[in-house]
Formats: sequence, C-alpha cells, structure tokens
Amino acid sequence: MNTEFLNKITCGDCRKLLPKLDKESIHLFLSDIPYGINLDEWDVLHNNTNSALLGSSPAQEGKNGFKRRGKPINGWSNADKNSGKEYEEWCYSWAEQLFPLMKEGASAFVFGARRTLHRAINAFEDSGFLLKDVLAWKKTSAHHRAQRLNIVLKNRGLEQELQAWEGWRLGNLAPIYEPIAWFFKPYKVTITDNILINGVGAINTEICKINGTSPSNLLEFGFADNEEKYHEAQKPLNLIEFLINLTTKENQTVLDSFMGSGTTAVASKHLNRNFIGFEIHEKYCEIGNLRLNGTEINTNLNGKHKPQSTLFG
Ligand SMILES: C[S@@+](CC[C@H](N)C(=O)[O-])C[C@H]1O[C@@H](n2cnc3c(N)ncnc32)[C@H](O)[C@@H]1O
Repeated sequence: MNTEFLNKITCGDCRKLLPKLDKESIHLFLSDIPYGINLDEWDVLHNNTNSALLGSSPAQEGKNGFKRRGKPINGWSNADKNSGKEYEEWCYSWAEQLFPLMKEGASAFVFGARRTLHRAINAFEDSGFLLKDVLAWKKTSAHHRAQRLNIVLKNRGLEQELQAWEGWRLGNLAPIYEPIAWFFKPYKVTITDNILINGVGAINTEICKINGTSPSNLLEFGFADNEEKYHEAQKPLNLIEFLINLTTKENQTVLDSFMGSGTTAVASKHLNRNFIGFEIHEKYCEIGNLRLNGTEINTNLNGKHKPQSTLFG
C-alpha cells in the first residue's frame, strides 16, 4: 500500500519517488508541473546554457514577474531550438512512470504554458494516456507589458519613423488564460463497466455547477480575497477543488508530484480525498505541510495574492 506517502507532502525528486507507489492505485493525477519557460531555477528543464537566456534584463530587476529573461522564442541558436525537445524528454521521464500507477479510466489534469504544453501532451500520449480536452483557466488579471514601438524608435533617434508606427507595440496580447491538458488512462471495458470496477471515468457536473449552471471547459477562477501567496506559480484553491470535485469521490486518492506550496494537498484535505504529494524543494515541502496543518507561515513570499506572473508565459 501507499501508506508511507499518504496524506502528506514528501520531499524529493518525483522521478525517484513515483516508482515506490502501488500500481493502479491513483484515482486522479492533478499537477501544475514546471512549464519549462524558465520562470525560476526549478523551471529550467533543458541543457541550454546560453547566458542571455538566464540573465535578467534591467527592466526585470525588482519586478514580481519573471526573474529571468527566459525568452528564446526567436530561436537564435541551436541550443535555444533544442529547449522544447529537452523539456518534452523531461516530461516523458516521469509521465511513463506515472502511467502504471493510474487506475484505468482515471483522469490526469496537467497545467502548462501556452507555448510548451504541446510538449507535455506528446510525452503523456507517448506514455499511454489519451488526451480528452484542453481546458482554459481564465484568470482575473494578467501581467502584461507590450512596449510602444514609437517610444523604442524615438529612443533610437529615428524621429522620421514615428508617425508610420503610431499605435504599434512590441509584445503579445494580454495572457489572460492558461491551458490545462485533461487526459485519461484507457480502459478495456465499456465506460460504465469501468466506472463500476474502478470508480472513475464519470464527471460530477452537479456539484461543480457555477451560479446554477453546468460548467463549460472555460474555467473562470480567481484567488479568494484572503488567500495567502506562498509560491510564485501558486494556483487558486477553488480552481483545484473544482477539478477534484469534477472527477473524484470522497476517500479516493489524488496524486500531485509537483506540489509547490501544497495547494492540491490542501484542496484534497478540504474535500475528504486522500492525497500523495511530492516536492523537490525543502522550503516548499515545509510550507505545504504547514499549510496542511493550518499553521501560520512566516516567509517572505507570504502575503496577499499578487497577480500571477505570466509576462512571457
Ligand atoms: C508550478 S510549481 C507548483 C505550484 C503549485 N501549484 C502551488 O499552488 O503552489 C512546480 C513545482 O514543482 C517542483 N519540482 C520541480 N521538479 C521537481 C521534481 N523532479 N520532483 C518534485 N518536484 C519538482 C518545483 O520545485 C515547483 O515548486
């Protein structure tokens, strides 16, 4: 049995811990995995040592958003171009270990970045999972910076170009949503027989109604006013609770192998689900386990929610 790991957050590399779990014991995998977009050290999942990639620009210093430049999307070197492939290989290194642990018909929700989620989807498909949908989590606000082109041109002394580029900007549209890939493990019998055998495969839209209406695949959730912020990639508790309620029943087991500050653990506990959680950083393990016990936490990340850092996400 998984009792050694049940209902606590275990500190360690999930690639070493996943093989210790029982086969076909997990009713839901729900994880906000590292997106591979260089948000912080834990999110660098490639061998690219391009110094521009991991440096920070003066505009980023002291800012809440990305601490690192991390934006090689114009692919100026072969090392940059390989980053996506290396991220996919990293995803596969643990997704293939996850597959045998899941019950047939069980769901897996994988949070990702719009630019890199396809790599995680490939890894999950290659591990045996089937993609069911890609949900969109619509946030209440998004960090956004798109420089005015005529200011850039003016700074370069190109006064004669200003009028031609009036109204144009350098950057993206405001990144207001994040995708969540929804997979399931294939089953050998009919869906109804599988539900009766394994207890998973159906969705509880009744309990997940929003303002009396059945939910769609556009999920609009924000942080509660009094929700504390412990992790730069933290997700709202009510979003995680929604996904758990949608796909599991009480006393079933939820696995999150990238726990961060423990949001999935706290949500599972609220909803009377068992959970197993792994987190590689001791600091976050400690924060997660304290959150679980309802202990007040004194850390410099602790504070009322600040907007999610999606500047380049
Ligand atoms: C996107 S964050 C999760 C944040 C979380 N959703 C929350 O609400 O706090 C991903 C976490 O995965 C952890 N991580 C990265 N590689 C890991 C590994 N191999 N095993 C376990 N945890 C890992 C990172 O330290 C980071 O805290």
